[in-house]
Amino acid sequence: MKRALLTTACILAATAASAGEDSTLSIEGEDYITQTAAPEHMEYVDTIYSGWTFRTDETQALQMDDFDNPAFVFLDQAIDQWDTVEGSEGKSCSSCHEDVADFAGLKTSLPRVENGELVTLTNLVNECVTERMGSKEWKYSGAKMSGMTALIAHQSRGMTMNVKIDGDAAPFWEQGKELYYQRVGQLDMACSNCHEDNYGNMIRADHLSQGQINGFPLYRLKNAKINTTHGRFKGCMSNIRAVPFKEGGPEFKALELYIASRGQGLSVETPAVRN
Ligand code: HEC
Ligand code: HEC
Repeated sequence: MKRALLTTACILAATAASAGEDSTLSIEGEDYITQTAAPEHMEYVDTIYSGWTFRTDETQALQMDDFDNPAFVFLDQAIDQWDTVEGSEGKSCSSCHEDVADFAGLKTSLPRVENGELVTLTNLVNECVTERMGSKEWKYSGAKMSGMTALIAHQSRGMTMNVKIDGDAAPFWEQGKELYYQRVGQLDMACSNCHEDNYGNMIRADHLSQGQINGFPLYRLKNAKINTTHGRFKGCMSNIRAVPFKEGGPEFKALELYIASRGQGLSVETPAVRN
C-alpha cells in the first residue's frame, strides 16, 4: 500500500502520551539515571530522558531482567568471537586484551578525537581487526561488529555519558549540531522536529523519545537483532524520505558526538531494548 506523504503537522498527533517519567529503571538491584537536568549547551530542553522512559511497560520490563533481555544472546556470541583467532597474525582479541571488562568506561567518552580525527568504538575495534590482527575490516553495522561493540559498551553499563565537546572536539560537535537541526528529505524535517519539539507525543503508533543513544548498541523487537546508532540514524533519515548519510561516514560520526552530548549525565544502558 502506498502511503500518502504526510506533513509534520499531521503525522504528529496532538495527544501527548504520558512518558513513564515516574518509573525507575532498575537492573539487578542497580538503579539507572533515565532522566536528569539537560546539559547547559541545550537551549530548548530542561530535562533529558532515556528512550527507555517512553517505551511500554512490557518493553521496559524486558530491559530490567538480563535473563529476559534478548540482546544477551548476541553478547554471548560476541564473547565467543572475542576468543576467535582471525587474520594473518593468528590472533584473537584475547591474545592482547586480558579481559573485555577492562573496557569499562570507554563508551561514556566516545566518540572522541584522535590525531585530528573523530573515532567511534567501531573505528577502534576495526583498527585492531585490520592493523593488529591482519584481517579484513568488519562491516560497520554488521552482525559481528554490532555484537562486539555491544559487548564492549556493556562494560560501561550504569556509568554516565560524558563525551568531550570542547577543544579539538569542538568543530566535530558543531558539525553534528548543524546536522541535527538541518531539515532534509521529502518531508523536510530535522531530527529536532521530532526528538526535540515533539518528544512525548505519538507519531502514528510510536511514542516519540528524545532520540538518545545512551542505550546503544541495543536490541530492537522490530528486527530481532542488535542495532547500531548509525543504523538507527539511517532508519530515521529514510523515514523522512531523505537519502541517509553513510554509516561510519563523517556526518554520522559528528551527529553521534552531538547526540551523545545531549545525553550527558544519563546512564549507559547497553544493551537496551526498544520496539
Ligand atoms: C595484537 C594485539 C591486539 C589484538 C589482537 C587486538 N587488540 Fe585491541 N588494542 C591493542 C592495542 C595495542 C590497543 C591500543 C592500546 C590500548 O588502548 O590498549 C588496542 C585498543 C583497543 C581498543 C580501544 C581501547 C581504548 O581504551 O581506547 C578497543 C575497543 C579494542 N582494542 C578492541 C579489540 C577487539 C574487540 C579485538 C578483537 C576483535 C582486539 N582489540 C584485538 C591490541 C590488540
Ligand atoms: C518524523 C519524526 C522523526 C525524525 C525527523 C527523526 N526521528 Fe528518530 N525516531 C523517530 C521515531 C518514531 C523513533 C522511535 C521512537 C523513539 O524512540 O523516539 C525514533 C528513534 C530514534 C532513536 C532511538 C532512540 C532510542 O532510545 O532507542 C534515535 C537515536 C533517533 N531516532 C535519532 C534520530 C536522528 C539522528 C534523526 C535526524 C537525522 C532523527 N532521529 C529524526 C522519529 C523521528
